[in-house]
Amino acid sequence: MIRIALTKGRIEEKAVELLEKCGYDISELRNKGRKLIFRLTGSDIEVVLAKAADVLTYIEHGVCDVGVVGEDTILEYEKPLYEMMDLGFGKCRFALAGLKGGDFYAGYSHKKIATKYPNVAKKYFNSKGIDIEIVKIEGSVELAPILELADAIVDIVETGSTLKENGLEVYEDIIPVSARLVVNTASMKLKKGEIETLISKLSDVIKSENK
Ligand code: PRP
Repeated sequence: MIRIALTKGRIEEKAVELLEKCGYDISELRNKGRKLIFRLTGSDIEVVLAKAADVLTYIEHGVCDVGVVGEDTILEYEKPLYEMMDLGFGKCRFALAGLKGGDFYAGYSHKKIATKYPNVAKKYFNSKGIDIEIVKIEGSVELAPILELADAIVDIVETGSTLKENGLEVYEDIIPVSARLVVNTASMKLKKGEIETLISKLSDVIKSENK
């Protein structure tokens, strides 16, 4: 049996579609209600639904073998696991953004960055040799510059609508990210055959879609 942890929400929808295209029976996942764990009928796969950071925790502790999670979360938490595949969906980018028309680098004052990704933000400014202050925000981080809590945000941008509708704009693109398949290091050895079968099914579907 392989246990797969899927990140709830946008990634879950695409991942479930992908599992269906691989030939798995995902009917239970379509009518899931509030249930969080599912055995895919007729297969040796169990699916668990979790928040992004928790997907990595379950993989790290070996209670889930495989995970589907955004690269944004992988970059933020830097857990010991194998990153096996770019799944080709959940494409977005990390960006530095702030109030429209603002000049982030103007003046000599110490800048404050609001973000859900403090490590990614720290690393980005370290690489530029710029000292900044980080304020950790749990969601809707676009509010921080509007409320004058921060000079800018480091966040993921997909369509750009959230920035636009709140009077913000991208100042700099940082790095593109997408959904990834990650695997627990021990499972990769102990369940090699099962995991390789899953990976080969996934890559066949992804390749046929990219033709
Ligand atoms: C993410 C991100 C932005 C938004 C970007 O938030 O933090 O707010 O999506 O998407 P867009 O460019 O297509 O508008 P999410 O929806 O995950 O919610 P959260 O801020 O509550 O975490």
